[in-house]
Amino acid sequence: MKVYSIYFSPTGGTKKVADLVAGAWGGQKEEIDISRREADYSVYKFEPSDLCLVAVPSFGGRVPGIALERLSAMSGGGAKTVMAAVFGNRAIDDTLLELEDTLIGAGFHPVAAMEANAEHSIMHQFGAGRPDGEDGEELREFAAKIQEKLWGTAEEEPVQVPGKRPFKEYKGVPFKPEAGKNCTSCGLCAKECPVGAIPQENPKTMDKEICISCMRCIAVCPQKARGNNKAVLFAASQRLKKELGGRKVNRLYL
Ligand SMILES: Cc1cc2nc3c(=O)[nH]c(=O)nc-3n(C[C@H](O)[C@H](O)[C@H](O)COP(=O)(O)O)c2cc1C
Repeated sequence: MKVYSIYFSPTGGTKKVADLVAGAWGGQKEEIDISRREADYSVYKFEPSDLCLVAVPSFGGRVPGIALERLSAMSGGGAKTVMAAVFGNRAIDDTLLELEDTLIGAGFHPVAAMEANAEHSIMHQFGAGRPDGEDGEELREFAAKIQEKLWGTAEEEPVQVPGKRPFKEYKGVPFKPEAGKNCTSCGLCAKECPVGAIPQENPKTMDKEICISCMRCIAVCPQKARGNNKAVLFAASQRLKKELGGRKVNRLYL
């Protein structure tokens, strides 16, 4: 059995979760980073003997559309698939259900799912430092339980994931990172932007219509020159602090 870890992880939290889960499984592994926009995802064709982990962040309780588009281009080929929705201390709402629909449409065979907490990639004070050591232990336990289901003798039952139809409406967030005075126009953000919202020839600008507010440009900037409007960030943090406070749990669905 070959294990594929497929992730969309603009700022690295989703990849941390994927590494913890896939790392707990033995066997030959391949990583497929669907944040890259230059790749041709239609070359990925899986087989029933493969095990795929598909990890995505929750944006507004949904799967980022570009991740769905790239997953849809692949051929699942009946590969056993574990879904992971990674969220920033609020909730995943319909993320797993939407991910499941797309994966089934692309020919994957979902067998298990989980929701896992990570640091909020816009308001970092929420879920700060997660996944932490405690999460690591729990995610490894999830991986072991999934393995038992897959390798066990019990009849394999379809996985039931949370979520409601029609899916929660997501209209985006008012965070479109701008370049500040420290920007040297090195162009790394333009190269790394998952959707091509930053022009390579003028990385100090960006197209707000294309930007999905994923925060990758902030995460990769070597000068720490990109950021969100501080007043908007403060207002949102105050408004959401009750909903995003406390320690939210990870959940496994088998
Ligand atoms: C545009 C946007 C929307 C988000 N919406 C939610 C949400 O609805 N619920 C939640 O708990 N976290 C939300 N988050 C937090 C992310 O799901 C979380 O930080 C995740 O780990 C980001 O993945 P990454 O680190 O791989 O980029 C949102 C983050 C962004 C950038």
